[in-house]
Amino acid sequence: MTKQANLGGTFTLPKTSMTVNRMGYGAMQLAGPGVWGPPRNVDEAVAVLQETIASGVNHIDTSDFYGPHVTNQILKQALHPYKDGLVIVTKVGARRGEDKSWIHALSRQELIDGVHDNLRNLGLEKLDVVNLRVGGITGPTDGSIAAPLTVLAELKQQGLIRHLGLSNVNPAQLIEAQSISDIVCVQNLYNVAHRTDDAFIDDLAQQGIAYVPFFPLGGFTPLQSSALDTAAAALDSTPMQVALAWLLQRSPNILLIPGTSSVKHLRENLKAATLQLPTETIVALNAIGS
Ligand SMILES: NC(=O)c1ccc[n+]([C@@H]2O[C@H](COP(=O)([O-])OP(=O)(O)OC[C@H]3O[C@@H](n4cnc5c(N)ncnc54)[C@H](OP(=O)(O)O)[C@@H]3O)[C@@H](O)[C@H]2O)c1
Repeated sequence: MTKQANLGGTFTLPKTSMTVNRMGYGAMQLAGPGVWGPPRNVDEAVAVLQETIASGVNHIDTSDFYGPHVTNQILKQALHPYKDGLVIVTKVGARRGEDKSWIHALSRQELIDGVHDNLRNLGLEKLDVVNLRVGGITGPTDGSIAAPLTVLAELKQQGLIRHLGLSNVNPAQLIEAQSISDIVCVQNLYNVAHRTDDAFIDDLAQQGIAYVPFFPLGGFTPLQSSALDTAAAALDSTPMQVALAWLLQRSPNILLIPGTSSVKHLRENLKAATLQLPTETIVALNAIGS
């Protein structure tokens, strides 16, 4: 595997020395079914991660509650010691129930434990970026996030975290957060069919803050659309590549973290960074979400 020259250009997280290629990788799919337990094929998971890095990707999104612990442990097994310049973004604010449920974990002690779980299982002394995950998976929940963010700001002050981001938040929560700490990225649900955050993305772009859409391919319910199929056929590509290329052209502050457990899909997804969408295709795709 050789390095891919075009990974969508680069983006520098605001007020940091961290510059990443816009095409990154989301590690959630490396755990077992339901993001629980070990993967069906550990060798394939390791191969996906090694090829991700060999291709030139330098931004990986993860969390210790994937598995739980399993995804970070595979990351460490496959990639530690980490290559210079690799930015690993993790998140805290949730934990898993015995029944595989996703439970908020936003108390002071749960956040401290979450940061230490990430440090231990990733084999790091300091986390590059930690997202405070607050709302639910389908969208933000209104309300103050000052208390949990203050805990993470303290851990940053103590040297355990370099930079902070937010996940599942609304614009008012970002404003509140910025009175407590610099925020380098926001990670919310967004894709060509789910466009709630359109105005938020434009506002973040103005501020130079990265927007990192989760479920860029539709997540547990993969995107299906005749507009994607038509565009893919015309461009000799696949619907998933078109969906990723659409996100890359949508705004320069969008960073991609498509998730996959397969080397074949990884290769397909990375190639999307080289796909140019003609204007008429973008117009047709814009109609999906309107
Ligand atoms: N902040 C949050 O609350 C939150 C929530 C969810 C996710 N995330 C993050 O966002 C990342 C991306 O989300 P995601 O992985 O859930 O969803 P996604 O990237 O939208 O889609 C992943 C799904 O698409 C399939 N897939 C990937 N590439 C494909 C291709 N080329 N062709 C066909 N199918 C393909 C994967 O299956 P295969 O494994 O078979 O390829 C998997 O089922 C996660 O990895 C995680 O890091 C964050």
